[in-house]
Amino acid sequence: MEVVVSATSLGATVTGVDLSVAVDDDEAAEIRALLDDRGVLAFPGQHLDDDGLKRVAAMWAEPQPHPVVEFLGGSDVIGVVFNDADHPPASGGDSAFHTDYSFCAEIPDVAVLRSVTAPPVGGATTWSDAVAACGSLDPELRDRLLTLRAHHDPGPRFLLEMEVRLGAELAARTDERFGSGSEHPIIATHPRTGSELLFVNAGYTRSIVGLSDAESTQLLDRLLGAFDDPDTTFEHRWSEGDVVIWDEHRTVHRGPDDFAPHARELHRCTAGRRAPQPIAG
Ligand SMILES: [Fe+2]
Repeated sequence: MEVVVSATSLGATVTGVDLSVAVDDDEAAEIRALLDDRGVLAFPGQHLDDDGLKRVAAMWAEPQPHPVVEFLGGSDVIGVVFNDADHPPASGGDSAFHTDYSFCAEIPDVAVLRSVTAPPVGGATTWSDAVAACGSLDPELRDRLLTLRAHHDPGPRFLLEMEVRLGAELAARTDERFGSGSEHPIIATHPRTGSELLFVNAGYTRSIVGLSDAESTQLLDRLLGAFDDPDTTFEHRWSEGDVVIWDEHRTVHRGPDDFAPHARELHRCTAGRRAPQPIAG
């Protein structure tokens, strides 16, 4: 297994391992340790099928359906992200940094994507390091944040997207279940490494609980700005067959809709679910 570590605090590219067959225990342990160290791992040219994708995700925890799929009675753990000229990406889409479904009480441990169709231009995914973002805060602010929580919710775009996908009735039920969102600690502790991380994201974090609107907006803007340091991000430009694994607690990610009208298809599987934990004490 050859590992090329990114020049930033996040990410590594791994070759010399075949994820299309079950990896042995030593290799699996090495890959898990590498993910804890680097937060995002890119494996170019793997050409997995969906069973292979599930097997990779299961190296961390049990694969889980998306909470909306589960709520609607589904159990499929593979999510398909598909866009082309007739199905353009939703405006805004996932172009803001986010943690997958942080509007729920629990988030995935890891997510794995495999590229089925890659656009000739655009469509890269970028991750940013929430541990580095936390470390960049001045200690006084960090101490204050330990006492604060933030409100996350899916926002108005979610309901529109659900209406397109599910029709008005199911969209309304889904909105009833998920629309009110969840509260999370602003500084959380990483479930495996124990590192402190900044748990807010531009996609779903709406406000800081207990602050005035003006104060909340100002503080949130400042915190979200901590994710914009190019020294703590990792970008992956997709080619067909690539696999990327990332740590949902350690990172936020975004996928701009800059590839339209070209086709892009990614299959996703997430594993594990747990609530972001506040710092003990
Ligand atoms: Fe996402």
